[in-house]
Parts: sequence; structure tokens; C-alpha cells
Amino acid sequence: MEIPTKYFEMNQFKKTILITGGAGFIGSHLVRLMVNKYPSYKIINLDKLTYAGNLDNLRDIEHKENYHFIKADICDAQEVNRIFDLYAIDNVIHLAAESHVDRSISNPLEFLQTNVIGTVNLLNAAKNAWVNQNENIFYHVSTDEVYGSLGSEGMFTEKTSYDPRSPYSASKASSDHFVRAYHETYGLNVKISNCSNNYGSHQFPEKLIPLVINNIVHKKPLPIYGKGDNVRDWLHVVDHAEAIDLIFHKGKIGETFNIGGHNERQNIELVKLLIQLVDKKLGREEGDSLSLITYVKDRSGHDQRYAIDASKLENILGWTPRYNVEDGIEETVDWYLSNNEWIDNIVSGDYLNYYKNQYVNR
Ligand code: NAD
Ligand code: TYD
Repeated sequence: MEIPTKYFEMNQFKKTILITGGAGFIGSHLVRLMVNKYPSYKIINLDKLTYAGNLDNLRDIEHKENYHFIKADICDAQEVNRIFDLYAIDNVIHLAAESHVDRSISNPLEFLQTNVIGTVNLLNAAKNAWVNQNENIFYHVSTDEVYGSLGSEGMFTEKTSYDPRSPYSASKASSDHFVRAYHETYGLNVKISNCSNNYGSHQFPEKLIPLVINNIVHKKPLPIYGKGDNVRDWLHVVDHAEAIDLIFHKGKIGETFNIGGHNERQNIELVKLLIQLVDKKLGREEGDSLSLITYVKDRSGHDQRYAIDASKLENILGWTPRYNVEDGIEETVDWYLSNNEWIDNIVSGDYLNYYKNQYVNR
């Protein structure tokens, strides 16, 4: 690996934080926040640039002195150790993962490899690099999907038992357990947060919201799994990034925090809202795109409902989300409509083939 010239100036920084998965959806928002808010921190973005990683997400900050990108795979233990050593990493915020439930159903092993083995590699590197140091933090960014599926009542709290039901959530649950095990067994300073579904700019268009916006624009079918009555609890990605910043700085070591916005919507309700907004903004007649709604075969093991009780984070750290879902979704629609080049670049790649083979016209 080439030693970057910037490396020699690194000791001018108060912290050197390794953010993994920083070229992805949430990671890029977090990297932007940390780089802009903390000029005294060096932010090292480690990302493999899988189909979901995109350096276009970070063009606005890539020139900054306190930012550095490394293309690497968290599954490569030797490389991860070398990076810890070379860059004197003193904190980790770990987001790199395979993140799409449908893909986990087609290829569970890839999720085991990246989400579990990759996380354990990072834990080992941190444990070995941080001997006799007690200021360092290993923060794992996780999901509410580890708690399983709710019926029409109740919410996930930090005390809810883990009950993962998809290969994706099983891999995230496993990595959460490893993170806690490294705290208990080796005394590593860990933090975990479990967040609900995020929405916002730069989300890969295989996830419901950007997929539906893009398909409405191009008058393509809007695939609704099952009856469309599954419920997700939506949080703006910037609210998530701000919560991570707060927990990273103020959360107690060894603790878990749930993050969520109290914004439950049935999928079909959300899709109809997107139709209304996109049709209006494109000057189409109201309801024009309703005919694009296409009910397709349900996802196997489709979790019925997620809902987060974020009162621990609100009460202990004083966090509240800034966005309400209506404004946040409208802003998100505006972003996708005015950044069609970003989305066109993605959907013209091999992602489309994958998508065609798996989910359309069943
Ligand atoms: P994403 O798929 O958009 O981005 C994942 C990033 O990780 C990509 O940039 C990809 O290139 C990188 N990556 C994948 N495998 C890697 C590897 N082996 N080595 C290095 N980099 C690798 O995902 P996202 O939606 O931004 O999610 C980020 C994290 O947040 C994940 O850990 C996910 O489980 C968690 N999370 C996501 C949501 C959500 O709604 N999207 C909610 C809660 C938690
Ligand atoms: P998704 O964005 O994949 O997130 P997650 O599975 O992690 O919650 O899906 C959100 C919801 O939308 C989920 O209930 C599955 C559903 N869905 C569809 O109905 N159609 C689609 O094309 C997609 C991608 C998801």
C-alpha cells in the first residue's frame, strides 16, 4: 500500500476515526457530517466499493484535508491490521455491510462473510492495536431488524430479545453479539446502535423509496411485496448520522441505543405518497402513476412490522429527530428528481440485470 503524504501530518489531529462503509448511503452522510463538523479529527473512509459503494456520494468533501479514502475489504484481515497500524486508527465507526434483505435471501454466505467475519476482523484489529489504551471506541452501527418482527402492537426497546428472521438480520445480530463479546471478554470499549429504516439522498435504488421514485419517473411497475401492509418506521438519514455522532461522543461504553423517528407507515401508504409527490412535481395529473402499482409475490419470511422505542436515546442523551416524515420525504423526492444523473449511472450498470432477474414481473 502506498503511504499517503497526508499521513505524515496526521499527528496534528485529535482523533483518527476509521469509518467503514463510508461510500454507502448512511456512511456517506456520516462521513460528510464528521468531516465538516470536526476539522480536528482525521476521518479515514475504508470501503470496498461493492455495487453499493459510490464515491460520487462524497465529491463535495473529498478534497478536505481531514478526509482520506482507502479502498479495502474488511474481510482481508491482514490489510485491516496494516491500515490500523499505518494510520494509527484510534476510533472505529463500523457501517460496512451487505445491507439488502432480498440479496441476503439469494446469497446468505456473502452476508455471513462481510457482516460477521468482516466485523470480527475489525474487532481483532482494534483489540490488538489498542492494548493498554482506554480512550478508544469501537462503534457498531446496526439495525432494528435484529429484534425480529412485530404484530400490530408494541415497539422494540433495547431490552427486546434478539429474534432475527432473515439472513441479513441474522448476520447483523451475530455481529452485534461479537461486538458485545469483545467488550465482555477483552474489555474493548464498544457502543452499538440499532436503527430503523432510513431514507434520504444517495440511497441505492434497490431499496423501496429510491426504487419507487425512479420507477415512477420512468413509468415502470412499482413492485409491492405481498399485500403492501407491512409497516416500517422511517427515519431521515441525517437524523441517523446526528444520533451516531451524539452516541459516539456521549453514549456510555458498553451500551446499546435504539434510534427511530416514530414514523410508522404501511408500504402501500408510503408508495401512494411518493406517487402523489412525484406526479405533482413532474406536472402529471393527480393519481396518474397509481396504475403502476404492481402486487408481486411476497418476500420470503417478510417481517410484518418494525417500530422503535427511542426513549432511551431521547431521555439520556437528549436526542430528537429534526425531520418529520412528510417534509423529509418531499425533500428526498426533490433530491432524486434533480439528481437523475446519479441514479441513471447506477441503474445503467449490472445492478439492473440483477434486479430484472430477481424481482420484476413475477
Ligand atoms: P449500503 O449498502 O448503502 O452501504 C454499505 C457500504 O459498505 C458500501 O459502500 C459498500 O461498498 C461497503 N462494503 C460492503 N462490503 C464491504 C467490505 N467487505 N469491505 C469494505 N466495505 C464494504 O448500506 P447502508 O444502508 O448505508 O447501511 C450502512 C450500515 O447501516 C449497515 O451496517 C446497515 O446494516 C446499517 N443500517 C442500515 C439501515 C438502513 O435503513 N439502510 C438501517 C439501520 C442500520
Ligand atoms: P427495503 O427498502 O428493502 O428495506 P427493509 O427490507 O430492510 O425493511 O424494504 C422496505 C419495505 O418495502 C419492506 O417491507 C419490503 C418492501 N418492498 C416492496 O414492497 N417492494 C420492493 O420493491 C422493495 C425493494 C421493498
